[in-house]
Amino acid sequence: MLKSAVAGTALVPSSFSPAAVSSRATSMYRSEHESTRHVGQSKCSDDPYDRAANPNGVIQLAIAENRLAMDLVKEWISDNVKASLIDSDISHLVPYHPIDGLLELKTALAAFMGQVMLESISLDPSQMIITAGATSAIETLSFCLADPGDAVLIPSPYYTGYDRNLKWRAGVEIIPVPCRSIDNFRLSISSMELAYNQAKKRGVKVRAIFLSNPSNPIGNLIDRVTLHELLDFVTEKNIHLVSDEVFAGSNHGTDEFVSIADVAHTEGFDKTRVHVIYGLSKVLALPGFRIGVICSFNEYVLGTAKKYARFFSVSVPTQRLLVPMLSDVNFALKYIEIKKKRLRRMYELFVEGLEQFGINCFPSSAGYYCWVNMSNLMRSNSEKGELELWDKLLNISKINVTPGSECRCVEPGWFRICVTTITEDDISVVMERIKRITETNEG
Ligand SMILES: Cc1ncc(COP(=O)(O)O)c(C=O)c1O
Repeated sequence: MLKSAVAGTALVPSSFSPAAVSSRATSMYRSEHESTRHVGQSKCSDDPYDRAANPNGVIQLAIAENRLAMDLVKEWISDNVKASLIDSDISHLVPYHPIDGLLELKTALAAFMGQVMLESISLDPSQMIITAGATSAIETLSFCLADPGDAVLIPSPYYTGYDRNLKWRAGVEIIPVPCRSIDNFRLSISSMELAYNQAKKRGVKVRAIFLSNPSNPIGNLIDRVTLHELLDFVTEKNIHLVSDEVFAGSNHGTDEFVSIADVAHTEGFDKTRVHVIYGLSKVLALPGFRIGVICSFNEYVLGTAKKYARFFSVSVPTQRLLVPMLSDVNFALKYIEIKKKRLRRMYELFVEGLEQFGINCFPSSAGYYCWVNMSNLMRSNSEKGELELWDKLLNISKINVTPGSECRCVEPGWFRICVTTITEDDISVVMERIKRITETNEG
């Protein structure tokens, strides 16, 4: 035994530098620590707002978590947890199980998705891989569809997590395809074509289009005609189309949600290039349960994802608890209806509240956020001006929101503000705090 260990002193003399970590780890650590997301989240955890206990704390409006109907989930769980978990035979819970998810869960989830997506999707459990949240589903698909250095096209602004989920481990390049306010942030096939050709000129292989529908951060829905055009595009280029539909079931407007799977199926496209991502983090507001799913019609993708599933499988007790919840049609319908009403109300209150300061929101139909144009509060119309405003919102108003540049929005001044992490009573507090910034600007 080494002398120093016996004496309980350090084995490494202080003149040694610490053992190096991988360059992957270094670059991940740096990029994460420098992001507005990280800085904002740290402020929220260090000084969290609480109406009673910490009324001057930082209000979290940057996480798309829906706490508006938590009471209903809580009630269902307390009524049913005993029967679904504790009374069940322990031998159902402890052994190894199919690593890509229980058949019972896949069957219940397929039926639930059919209901939520208004029969716009019809799935066979054999086409599903259960993952630890949608995050793992996204990463797995990027691993299956592209090699390191290959690229995917993503309409921007896009969900900030894509940078992490596609780049960190799979090494896939993201090519943002800008959508603009003048076009109501609708994606355009001609911009896709342009981005595709530019990548080709650089010698980069584009393997897929990734998109979120309903969109995070904008909250709009892609209509059937555009989905058709997208399928034409990927067919012509012989690439894949991944549709992240985690926000299906979060509609609060009148626009109809159509799944890409529906268009591919009814209009006779080759479904093997179409992959849908879903999960329960948004629709049932259960991000802590870590349930996601890859729905694919491609046997190679399914076969590979099934092997890869070893790295992200979901605990059996969690799956067992969810089977009866997802199969409880009355609960699901009631939950979605009540949640929709509460969400609509919060959305409208935010939009009205912001209007009093001349701040306009994009007219969204889905999602747990407003997409807000705050350019009238910026000192300069640039990314720098946007980040200065974000900093003021965080440090003067003490509200944490997502700047559009974090979502790769090409127009400065847009922010994503989540409306479902606070209660109705807190809206006036948020507005009071935004007022502080409008007053500082006037002064
Ligand atoms: C569009 C989109 N996809 C995927 C995810 C990740 O979901 P999960 O928490 O299930 O990993 C999110 C989370 O906010 C999201 O907004």
